[in-house]
Amino acid sequence: MRAIQYDRFGDYDVLGLATAPEPTGGDGQAVVRVTVAGVSPLDNTARQGKLPAGAVKPFPVIPGVSGVGVLVEPGGSALPAGTRVAIGGGRYGLGVDGVWAELVAVAPADLVPLPDAVDDTTAAALTAGAGYLTALLALTEVVGFRAGQTVLAPGVGGAVGQGGVEIARVLGAAKAITTATSSVKAALGRDVGFEVIDLSQESLRDGVARLTDGKGVDVVLDGVAGPLTGEALGSLAVDGSLVSIGYSAGMTSTVNVTDLIWKNAHVHGFRFAMFTPDQVAAANVKLLDLVARKEITPLVDSVYPLAEAARAQRHLIEGGSFGRVLLSV
Ligand SMILES: NC(=O)c1ccc[n+]([C@@H]2O[C@H](COP(=O)([O-])OP(=O)(O)OC[C@H]3O[C@@H](n4cnc5c(N)ncnc54)[C@H](OP(=O)(O)O)[C@@H]3O)[C@@H](O)[C@H]2O)c1
Repeated sequence: MRAIQYDRFGDYDVLGLATAPEPTGGDGQAVVRVTVAGVSPLDNTARQGKLPAGAVKPFPVIPGVSGVGVLVEPGGSALPAGTRVAIGGGRYGLGVDGVWAELVAVAPADLVPLPDAVDDTTAAALTAGAGYLTALLALTEVVGFRAGQTVLAPGVGGAVGQGGVEIARVLGAAKAITTATSSVKAALGRDVGFEVIDLSQESLRDGVARLTDGKGVDVVLDGVAGPLTGEALGSLAVDGSLVSIGYSAGMTSTVNVTDLIWKNAHVHGFRFAMFTPDQVAAANVKLLDLVARKEITPLVDSVYPLAEAARAQRHLIEGGSFGRVLLSV
């Protein structure tokens, strides 16, 4: 089968199109014929060799942590062959071979059947980057979000920013705010109805104060980090919570501890390992239902052919994408 593979850690150019052995199923594993795969920052971190030792399987590695397709071998799952599925969870592209291939072996527990009303591209956009899933679990399971609270999800073009804003709204947020690194990005966000702080025009603290009458936000879903985390802690309301999700802008930040002390602030780390497979499965079902009812609209920036995976990955990391970057398999 055609697959993208790498046989050493490195830059985008280690990603090459190869002919790989087809997965056979076995041990109860299902096999999915992939139609559309997602491209995520996690794929990039893994390929660079920046995950902890042992997190990535021995070479060669087929990357791709998320995607959708058609079940061709049900394995131990109760689903019939031909079912359209998303791959929702697991360690694909990391501990086991991933989704940037024509066929992928999947544990039955990670198969999420797709409703007829959700097409493959939309389902791939929902799952790429896991922004919606992250936001839903972080708000409902980590910080105990209540309707009427305010949320800041920085990164207007990204999965966590866009998913965070849309999920916060669905859960009844009084305000769901995001940030943009440029006025161009801010305009794109406003065009799709987001409330955006343009960081090229005002600081995060000033923007949050302006939009919340000086109160600050109750929750920050922080996928950006770097210098922004210190600013985000300074933008919290009293008793507010920051969930540390990712680090698109860097891994270190300067924190004024009085932003923690005087506000009785709460800081949480976020990993999918915190949740049971049942929690993740229930969240995926809820998200697909929200898409089917058009209560959330995952955005697509671009769809590349599988063979151009390296270009797609570079575009996500360096190209200023707005919405998800996908691979057509
Ligand atoms: N812990 C977990 O389980 C988990 C789950 C999901 C994601 N993540 C991580 O969360 C991070 C974000 O993921 P993503 O999929 O949303 O990434 P993405 O789609 O690549 O988007 C990254 C966002 O970061 C923003 N950004 C980059 N540099 C910035 C800066 N200096 N100042 C302000 N904003 C900046 C960009 O904002 P603009 O659009 O304004 O340019 C962009 O929207 C990644 O590190 C990812 O690996 C972790």
